[in-house]
Amino acid sequence: MADREDLEFNYSLIDRVFRASMGECADFSGAKYDGDFSLSLEEAQRRKHEYVAEQLGIGPGRRVLDLGCGWGPLLDFIRRRGGSAVGVTLSSAQAAACRRHGLDVHLHDARQVTRDSFGAFDAVASLGTFEHFCSPREHRAGRQDEIYRGLFARTASLLPDNGRLFLQTMVFGQNMIPVDRIDINAPRDSDAWYLALLGRQFPGSFLPYGQEQIIRSARPHFRLVASTSGRLDYIETIRPVAQAVRRAEHEKDAAQAPAAPPLADELRLPARVHLGREREQRLLRAGAARPPPTRVREGAMS
Ligand SMILES: C[S@@+](CC[C@H](N)C(=O)[O-])C[C@H]1O[C@@H](n2cnc3c(N)ncnc32)[C@H](O)[C@@H]1O
Repeated sequence: MADREDLEFNYSLIDRVFRASMGECADFSGAKYDGDFSLSLEEAQRRKHEYVAEQLGIGPGRRVLDLGCGWGPLLDFIRRRGGSAVGVTLSSAQAAACRRHGLDVHLHDARQVTRDSFGAFDAVASLGTFEHFCSPREHRAGRQDEIYRGLFARTASLLPDNGRLFLQTMVFGQNMIPVDRIDINAPRDSDAWYLALLGRQFPGSFLPYGQEQIIRSARPHFRLVASTSGRLDYIETIRPVAQAVRRAEHEKDAAQAPAAPPLADELRLPARVHLGREREQRLLRAGAARPPPTRVREGAMS
């Protein structure tokens, strides 16, 4: 799986620029336009939260766990609906940001949550996190099903009989190329090249092979109740996010004037990371531009 270091790289490095450009408790996963692309990103994200709430029965008195809670958008929504919510993330910056907003968030591995960690829940949600649970190396070692099975078993143990899990994840489609063809030296713009770039942007992360692999691994703990494709939603979500990042790029340029505030430094890094430029990523991965290490305050992290 993507480990703590990988996730600090993915999320903590962009913490300030993400909050500055998208909002304090913004979503970092596909929204739900349902074909109505006149909706704003915020409206489409709200529509997604309402769909999750409907599926999970979120409301007063209900206790919900969010596996991989990001900057806390779903937790915030549940709180406004009168429910109580606990979130886990492996990004220390996300955990700190959520706590500043009074959200109950822990730096804890989502794959290791048991009843001893935070008690039992009425429902569990996980939006845009499943992608991080199995690494390409684990996939090559034939461990992908086993890893997912472990996660589903532990998640089920937190729930009552007939309790629900809402899972949002990207999956590989039928045109996925063989993994050993993924190569940064493959022809530019080829699938092999794009997948290699993504692998550098999201080290330790890999997708399930269609919903079939998820359904298979979830048995016997969960059966599929409902499923929707968010393919077009995802494509549409990227547009306003990219616009916001471009706006941040302009702010970065403005901030590069003498006496620039500390934010300028951070703006410079994520903007480059976002564009997937290999050289800067290699520098980051080598530790040249990492933020100072943060202490793990709680949880089951090694
Ligand atoms: C793409 S973000 C999605 C955040 C949020 N669910 C949303 O929709 O905005 C992925 C999140 O998963 C978290 N994550 C990934 N692997 C994790 C793990 N093993 N344990 C806890 N959190 C994890 C990351 O820290 C990040 O918060």
